[in-house]
Amino acid sequence: MSKVYSLPSRLKEDLKLVEDELTRIVSLKEGKLAEAALTTLKAGGKRLRPILVLLTGMINIYDVSKLIPSAVAIELVHTASLIHDDVLDGADTRRGSPTINATWDEKVAISTGDYLFGVAFEILSKLNNPYLMKVMAEAALALSVGELHQMRTCRNFNQTIDDYLTKIRNKTALLFSAACSMGAVLSGAKETEIEAVGRYGENLGMAFQIYDDVLDISGDKRILGKPIGIDLKDGMVTMPIFLALQETSQRAYLQNVVENVNSTEEEIEKAIRIIKATSAIKETKNRAKGFVEKAFEALKLIDADEARRELRFIGEFVINRYH
Ligand code: IPE
Ligand code: IPE
Ligand code: MG
Ligand code: MG
Repeated sequence: MSKVYSLPSRLKEDLKLVEDELTRIVSLKEGKLAEAALTTLKAGGKRLRPILVLLTGMINIYDVSKLIPSAVAIELVHTASLIHDDVLDGADTRRGSPTINATWDEKVAISTGDYLFGVAFEILSKLNNPYLMKVMAEAALALSVGELHQMRTCRNFNQTIDDYLTKIRNKTALLFSAACSMGAVLSGAKETEIEAVGRYGENLGMAFQIYDDVLDISGDKRILGKPIGIDLKDGMVTMPIFLALQETSQRAYLQNVVENVNSTEEEIEKAIRIIKATSAIKETKNRAKGFVEKAFEALKLIDADEARRELRFIGEFVINRYH
């Protein structure tokens, strides 16, 4: 079981180049925007999306000169979305450090996120590849649709699991899918492989967000680097809650916590205990595993052994991780 993922050593060097380029490009602008953006970038992060770009870049001919800017661009889009997400969620900690909205304010956070979106698309435009622009633009658009959908449905107890799945496909899974198709396209992979790896990424992203929603309930704040229980606090109905509702006799209590803007820490803790007393966490992990299995199914169409093997490791990591 992989609780951590370790890149093959020949790619470690390239991930380091991605890291250096992220710092360099963001520092080009002086002042508060660059300073704020750097605090989030430097605070850490798993760099999963850049890793996916590099790994899928191994499907055919590995072209580091194009993979690196693409990996940088996708991490910037992701980081921008996290900075905006922390404003929307009212979160005070990210990657173990205070969020931009906590250190400065929401205005600085919104501008910093916009700045990073701009930098990301500028880098990508230099690659002169309309396919990459299209995939990234679609993923960024889906992201905002997903986040808006989430805002619209928060504190609403009458949603369906399908609603939830549509939301997470948009806000998370399509960016994972974009990372994978970009790498594959840059390597000159076959059409069938590009399509397959895109499907792998989408299913991996679904599993990733479902597991993130488990960690929001059963994770450890120190390891996770972000608050626990924030989804409940913000009135979001995630997969573990849907599944707990099918079992618990405390439905009314959970409904009240979701609908009430002023739920206290104690009430949220009690709601977490109620969810944990059911089989919801175990069941939710099984659902995440189901998506990873679909992702693995898609990988069967990838010929390159090393890429296929590493992408499987990522799948295992996603549903076993602590952070
Ligand atoms: C967090 O993504 C947002 C979700 C899609 C759940 P990550 O867990 O990949 O965040 P970092 O980049 O590692 O901090
Ligand atoms: C994912 O949702 C956020 C984005 C896709 C931007 P979450 O709100 O669950 O992410 P975390 O838990 O804050 O990282
Ligand atoms: Mg959030
Ligand atoms: Mg979360």
